[in-house]
Amino acid sequence: MRIVIIFGAPGSGKGTQSELLISHYGYNHISTGDLLRAEIAQNTELGQIAKTYIDQGQLVPDSTIIGMIEHVLEAHKDAKGIIFDGFPRTVAQADALCDLLGKHGTQVDLMIELEVPEKVLIERILERGKASGRSDDNLDTVNKRLSVYYDQTASIADYYKKKGKHRSVDGVGTIEQIAERIRKEIDQLNSN
Ligand code: AP5
Ligand code: MG
Repeated sequence: MRIVIIFGAPGSGKGTQSELLISHYGYNHISTGDLLRAEIAQNTELGQIAKTYIDQGQLVPDSTIIGMIEHVLEAHKDAKGIIFDGFPRTVAQADALCDLLGKHGTQVDLMIELEVPEKVLIERILERGKASGRSDDNLDTVNKRLSVYYDQTASIADYYKKKGKHRSVDGVGTIEQIAERIRKEIDQLNSN
């Protein structure tokens, strides 16, 4: 089973590119942000807890996220591959992912980091905010999400760099140009 993490700051294109990858490769998609928003829409207990963090641009606690991933991974155990989007976001989550995948006899193959300047990230999110209905797509929360990203998440790229599994991809350009850059990395992995 191929395991690819699409990594990057808020608005870097993780969701957009994940959608293209799943249709191209037939992999499954696990987005913790989408899972949490579905819980909020259903007004579950988990959703109610998550909402208080998401609305503040803060990370939902590791224990909640890891428990959720443990649960959803079961449903993907026969997948050809999985694209993780928005997870892991902390070292504790990266460690937990390693353990959970180990139990399924697999491991992370690649982390693709989408590199996008902050100005572009903010423009994209504010543009999306006009129609998305996402409670965190406003300037105040975007700034918080970005600082949380720099403080708590960005450094986990090093975790995969040390394992030789990290690739940087220029995340500016047309959606198709970026998709092609990512496919090049995955195709190279698949040809080995
Ligand atoms: P999450 O849903 O993961 O949001 P995010 O990381 O802030 O990123 P976005 O979804 O906003 O952006 P994206 O990178 O997916 O870009 P997209 O493709 O949409 O997390 C939300 C919250 O949930 C977190 O703040 C946290 O509270 C919580 N959470 C989630 N996971 C968690 C975890 N593991 N641990 C703890 N808490 C967690 O693109 C953005 C926009 O740009 C779109 O409108 C798109 O159409 C457009 N666009 C994309 N590509 C291009 C392009 N090439 N050119 C022009 N426009 C483009
Ligand atoms: Mg997203």
